[in-house]
Amino acid sequence: MSNYHIKHLEEYYQVYRKSVRNPESFWEEIAEEHFMWRKRWDNVLDWDFSKPEIKWFEGAQLNITENCIDRHLYTRGDKTAILFEPNDPKEEAEHITYRQLHERVSKFANVLKENGIKKGDRVCIYLPMIPELAISVLACARIGAIHSVIFAGFSATALATRVNDCKAKMVITSDGSYRGAKTIDLKGIVDEALEQCPGVQTVLVAKRINSKINMKAGRDKWLQPLLDDAYADCVPEIMDAEDPLFILYTSGSTGRPKGMLHTTAGYMVYTAYTFKNVFQYKEDDVYWCTADIGWITGHSYIVYGPLANGATTVMFEGVPSFPDYGRFWDIVEKHKVTQFYTAPTAIRALAKENLDYVTEHDLSSLKVLGTVGEPINEEAWHWYNDHVGKKKCPIVDTWWQTETGGVLISPIPFATPTKPTYATLPMPGIQPALMDENGKEIKGNQVDGRLCIKFPWPSIARSIWGNHERYKETYFSAFPGKYFTGDGALRDEVGYYRITGRVDDVIIVSGHNLGTAPIEDAINEHPAVAESAIVGFPHDIKGNALYGYVILKETGESRDRDNLRKEINQMITEHIGPIAKLNKIQFVPGLPKTRSGKIMRRILRKIACNETDNLGDTSTLLNPEVVKEIMDNVL
Ligand code: WT7
Repeated sequence: MSNYHIKHLEEYYQVYRKSVRNPESFWEEIAEEHFMWRKRWDNVLDWDFSKPEIKWFEGAQLNITENCIDRHLYTRGDKTAILFEPNDPKEEAEHITYRQLHERVSKFANVLKENGIKKGDRVCIYLPMIPELAISVLACARIGAIHSVIFAGFSATALATRVNDCKAKMVITSDGSYRGAKTIDLKGIVDEALEQCPGVQTVLVAKRINSKINMKAGRDKWLQPLLDDAYADCVPEIMDAEDPLFILYTSGSTGRPKGMLHTTAGYMVYTAYTFKNVFQYKEDDVYWCTADIGWITGHSYIVYGPLANGATTVMFEGVPSFPDYGRFWDIVEKHKVTQFYTAPTAIRALAKENLDYVTEHDLSSLKVLGTVGEPINEEAWHWYNDHVGKKKCPIVDTWWQTETGGVLISPIPFATPTKPTYATLPMPGIQPALMDENGKEIKGNQVDGRLCIKFPWPSIARSIWGNHERYKETYFSAFPGKYFTGDGALRDEVGYYRITGRVDDVIIVSGHNLGTAPIEDAINEHPAVAESAIVGFPHDIKGNALYGYVILKETGESRDRDNLRKEINQMITEHIGPIAKLNKIQFVPGLPKTRSGKIMRRILRKIACNETDNLGDTSTLLNPEVVKEIMDNVL
């Protein structure tokens, strides 16, 4: 048990030093003591960042659902595993015990098998935050199918691209979803997407909103009758440590989404270990992460990490503003939530509303607060600390990425003194490095640079599905021998890290990682558009909002500008989803470019942020007259 649960700062440093001195024995000890293996590993770690190739616990065999469900049956069979809180507070919450979860996952797994899904097949899951989402994820893992959850806010085009990229044979969806006072026609979106996905043989449809939908004969099946007829026992598929567990798409600096591939054993060990420590999880806690399972936060810290620890994990279907802005606090009070994990954008939105929404609820159950997704600004941090945590709950500002699988930099509550806007210290096993522009590591404190990680950790993504070359290029080529995160960071006088934001063409809007390229591609599909460039600019609630610079074709010049703006946002909604809509669109005669033809986004960013006093080095700029024109007409 020695390393597993860190309780004070001295212990953190001890454990950390050990983890760096001998990473293999560190992780081996954790793997040995806290998980259920069908066969032990031959080798803890084999790695080469130049290929790149990373293998943890090679030779081991296991099934992650045995670790997340079966082994708890003896000790916690009647404990709530998933606590489902519906969109409408008038609908009753559902407590799914470990025993019930075992039965529901087993039945679902048998339904998958009966519908032709085998180990290694890809299954896309496009569901709202209802229990079937967590259950279908686990059912895939039970039989060794690779799940690819696609956030149910993505458009039909985005869904189709992802389904085709991983060549999924099956899609799991629902008739529709609730979102506050609205309903969304999910099945309609799936139908539209699948017109472009000939490889999908079966669509399983969960019933949620009881809407009338179209069921395509031979392809679409209602889920419930199949579950009713399924056996309640499903022998888990025995997986190799490095067998794929899931694919999860994230955006990058080109138009095509990257299917990050995560594998079994290392992902399990790391998410379980970090869940336990980052949230100081104890047996009777009620843990709630408000993310959607469609993002990595939900995979690692709603499903796998908590369940691997036998925790009670809350799954919330709704939104923070329905039926009013007190909903989060209502749920905390109702279920006596002990750990609450959300995004800075949600905190900023709630901080704008009347404080009564918070104060009228009893939040005394809370012990630890967390944030994730983007840098948290000082004001939001203090509001969270003062009004939600009542200055008694440490805030864990957790920095990580889809690619990292789990939290890499975060305070450990009650051990690491927190500091607003700082993610603070690396988790055991994580070796950060700050690099300068020439590829040299910057040692010492009170420095800043590009954030890399020097040594593999168990839950690092192993590849990009179907494109290992791109994986190498994106993460391992900028700083050879190191994993490059794409983020900038500074290290203060005591060695605390503060993440300062992306240094590449990714913009974080409301905690969602949006690549500039896919959005520009969508804009450029508009028949009146010749070229476009988007940048982020500061926004009160979203953190960043999007500013688009658009060059029209000659044929577009006569069109009404406001209509064009609407149509462009419509294009984006169709291709990606409403989360990627632009706040401002400026029509421009040209874009600032370098002599080699690259758009100088740095300049566009300064203009959008109103920081035109100093545009920086413009010596490579080909067309300074365009910059002046853009500045004169800035929105
Ligand atoms: C990017 C990854 C990890 C789950 C959510 C996002 C930014 C994430 C923080 C934080 C500052 C953060 C980074 C990172 N980010 N957490 N605590 N402080 N920035 O996953 O969509 O893969 O995005 O989100 O820029 O690289 P993602």
